Amino acid sequence: MINQVLDKLGDYPFDRLRHLLNGLEPPANQKPINMSLGEPQHEPPPFVVEVISRHANEWGKYPPVIGTPDLLNAVVEWLGNRYRLADGFVEPSRNVIAVNGTKEALFMVGDLCIPRNILGQRPAVLIPNPFYQVYMGAAVVRDAEPIYLPATKATGFLPDFQSLDPQLLARCALVYLCSPANPQGTIADITYLREAVELALRHDFVLAVDECYAEIYDTLQPPGILQACQDINGPLTNVLAFHSLSKRSSAPGLRSGFVVGDPGLVAGLKMLRNYGGAAIPGPIMAASAALWRDEPHVENNRTKYRQKFDTADQILKNKFEYYRPMGGFFAWLNVGDGEAAAQRLWSEAGIRVIPGKYLSKNGSNGSSPGDEYIRIALVHDPDLISDALRRLENNL
Ligand SMILES: Cc1ncc(COP(=O)(O)O)c(C=O)c1O
Repeated sequence: MINQVLDKLGDYPFDRLRHLLNGLEPPANQKPINMSLGEPQHEPPPFVVEVISRHANEWGKYPPVIGTPDLLNAVVEWLGNRYRLADGFVEPSRNVIAVNGTKEALFMVGDLCIPRNILGQRPAVLIPNPFYQVYMGAAVVRDAEPIYLPATKATGFLPDFQSLDPQLLARCALVYLCSPANPQGTIADITYLREAVELALRHDFVLAVDECYAEIYDTLQPPGILQACQDINGPLTNVLAFHSLSKRSSAPGLRSGFVVGDPGLVAGLKMLRNYGGAAIPGPIMAASAALWRDEPHVENNRTKYRQKFDTADQILKNKFEYYRPMGGFFAWLNVGDGEAAAQRLWSEAGIRVIPGKYLSKNGSNGSSPGDEYIRIALVHDPDLISDALRRLENNL
């Protein structure tokens, strides 16, 4: 049983990359730069360390798994301001749970809402393609059928939910959506989000919206799924949004995020996490609350990403179908053969990138929408990124 599930999961993208580059060495005279991982490298604000040390007595306590009242309040204040929500639309005790990074919660939501069957049929989980691989993991371990919806240049880099077969929607348990999208950087507009909520209500599936890049954007502030729910004047039925400090506050090592949405689903997640979830340590929750209450460091992060994309605009202009993404910090480049490019960039330029193939699944034509692409993460400081992009452009 265990082996069958693992076979279906396959290796995680970074293990596949390790195998691909196995035996290849970067040039001895060039410092290797890792652009494969979306791991923000800007300094988080200094107050993080101060708050953690001020709360050092809490290392000796088991923290509440659902989050401290102070953290949940900070999250609700932030959501209210960020998405212009009416007072009381989101309540700290009913609608929010703290999680140690969104990755685990995005996975656990599969346990929460994929039944053994729907009307006697195998449940389906809809996933944009290419995608964050955790979504597929959640479907596969529950033995649901992952259905990959093209999110390609031809579909505006978002899945087309409106053209789906009603029979498929009838056995759909869970739909993942990511906005801003990883890897493409697309922002779903408010009309798209409203239609997605309406579809989730009509066909009674859970809509899991991964908004962990919501605060990394260029000129257009991404609307959120909570706004779509508020606009259609409904409660948060069937909807969950996932937010993280990893990207917003450049603090991936903090392991801190939250899930917000449908009170029934949030109660279910609380129960699951009470059994099998690790709470965020108390001092980290205190630092997280301080981060959600602070905006200048986030604006500072955005400024740095904009500066790096200005450099990318110059160096990659008219090459590899480069476009400046609306959100997130990835460039999604069509290089013809993503795996071959990743090998060449590593061995000839010391630049580590991930082939788009490892972030995608094959369609019925036997190829995946990521085959021709590489994804590069602009997470390092601007000088290093400028050097990396020049090396990349010279070598491809
Ligand atoms: C699309 C997407 N969702 C979720 C995550 C998980 O982030 P974290 O667990 O740090 O919140 C990532 C991390 O790279 C991501 O790219």
